[in-house]
Amino acid sequence: MPVPTDFLIIGSGIAGLRAAADLATAGKVLVLTKADPEESNTGYAQGGIAVAIGADDTPALHAEDTIAAGDGLCDDGAVRILVEEGVRYVRELVSWGARVDRDASGELALGREGAHRVRRVLHAADATGREIGRVLWERVSAEPRIRVLRHTRAISLLIRDNRCTGARFVGPNGEATIEAQATLLATGGAGQIYAETTNPPVATGDGVALAWRAGARVADLEFMQFHPTVLSVPGAPRFLLSEAIRGEGAWLVNAEGERFMLREGPAGELASRDVVSRAIVQETARTGSPVFLTLQHLEPSYIAHRFPMALAACRAAGLDLARHRIPVSPAAHYQMGGVETDVSGRTTIAGLLAAGEVACTGVHGANRLASNSLLEGLVFGARAAHAMLEPPRASQMTNVREAEPSEKANVMSVRDAMGGTERRRRTGSSEADVRDLMWRHVGVTRDGPGLEGAVRYLLAWHEEAEQALAEDPHDMNQWRLASLLAVSALMGRAALRREESRGAHYRADFPARNDIHWQIHIAERRGA
Ligand code: FAD
Ligand code: SIN
Repeated sequence: MPVPTDFLIIGSGIAGLRAAADLATAGKVLVLTKADPEESNTGYAQGGIAVAIGADDTPALHAEDTIAAGDGLCDDGAVRILVEEGVRYVRELVSWGARVDRDASGELALGREGAHRVRRVLHAADATGREIGRVLWERVSAEPRIRVLRHTRAISLLIRDNRCTGARFVGPNGEATIEAQATLLATGGAGQIYAETTNPPVATGDGVALAWRAGARVADLEFMQFHPTVLSVPGAPRFLLSEAIRGEGAWLVNAEGERFMLREGPAGELASRDVVSRAIVQETARTGSPVFLTLQHLEPSYIAHRFPMALAACRAAGLDLARHRIPVSPAAHYQMGGVETDVSGRTTIAGLLAAGEVACTGVHGANRLASNSLLEGLVFGARAAHAMLEPPRASQMTNVREAEPSEKANVMSVRDAMGGTERRRRTGSSEADVRDLMWRHVGVTRDGPGLEGAVRYLLAWHEEAEQALAEDPHDMNQWRLASLLAVSALMGRAALRREESRGAHYRADFPARNDIHWQIHIAERRGA
């Protein structure tokens, strides 16, 4: 018997919980979450939430910085909504009880991060995501019409006549289906497809895989953001050392103590993430030594007060954040692309919506501005909830251009090159193989031959994983692998197709941005 509900939300991060909070006034809400509810990218967010509330700031200035970081691919209308409505939604969150940092006069304290021209990042020490999650969770838990199914994983979407009518899931009591008038994907990102990532184990790209399998359009997947400064000590967890630390004046130095980022331009350590990540990779290769984050010139008591989590993580790795040089390197952090939506969260399938990191609204373009993602989850989580109250309809996107025939030929030739026998050969890929391949060939720096080889493997492995899943649809390990592979193959293919460098996508063989041919979004739909 299907479980009936009015609204189905898949995911319990900022986007899913913010949507649930509004939907409870209109009907029964079911939230599925595949682990404990607080286990999400949201729960690990550190630096804060960007919002134009400072005396020297305006939403227009915030929009300009967002669009500059997006490197020519932002949707200006979506950005305007993000920065303007963001002010209201963040104030609402504070009014709901979010305990954010304040200055000595009791005003909201704003931090600085890369590529922001003013201080605009609201924070709760370096555990902002945990605090936001706490407030939203409290609100959702108090609503009798919201039911949360923990350790329950959505495994497919129910589609009838290009309309989503719910989802199939596996929970502690086995498999079942849920029927709903509207379904929201709020499943977060896909950092786990990379060997090095800041993301927790739940970030496996399920939403993109579910939507793509159901026939929805996905876009901009070649743009994966790599965070430059992740703790890099053998044997220690890859803990993110927030950009806010550089915002408060920390330096990046090489083994000789040189601030190598000053060679890259006047923004130095606060250049955009793609620039800093690439510079770290190049400096490490040039010198054969790691690079370091240093706070030795800053006041230790301030560091302890502002960055307690980072201090503790470094201490656990045997380092003192205030006194030692801390080895850092980049790691996969945030997917700019995802399930294509309009500004109300509608996808190309009626009744299926997406919000948060899984969605591609166009607000981030080719590179997300730091701390804009929590803001996106709030604003577009709430907007999707409002759209779910209306009769189901698909998005009417008009700003996505089809790729040129020559670009298509390029991708098709990779598929053809796989050949029948190679395609059927069992290669027995594991998650570790996928992550390693993605890190080496679809990572910070890419090139044609590397991508071509990677895509060939990914497509073959994906096909095998789908076949194995068809043979045993109850094997959850196989299901997880098939999802990771679907997202990886889509990303690799888009990265191969885009023959230029823009934002987070850097091709060593096409190092320049090329607006004449490539100021377009690459979108894909299964079988199209
Ligand atoms: P998530 O918070 O990731 O939630 C996704 C949810 O979906 C989870 O509950 C997961 O279990 C569930 N789920 C996934 N698949 C399924 C399935 N098949 N079935 C059921 N449930 C499923 N952004 C900022 O703006 N500021 C920051 O300071 C910041 N710091 C960050 C620090 C770290 C270490 C990381 C990893 C990210 C950071 N980000 C930051 C990015 C930001 O946290 C995320 O982009 C954002 O929280 C995503 O929210 P979401 O609701 O879309 O997804
Ligand atoms: C960080 O604190 O550096 C992460 C911020 C973000 O990803 O927006």
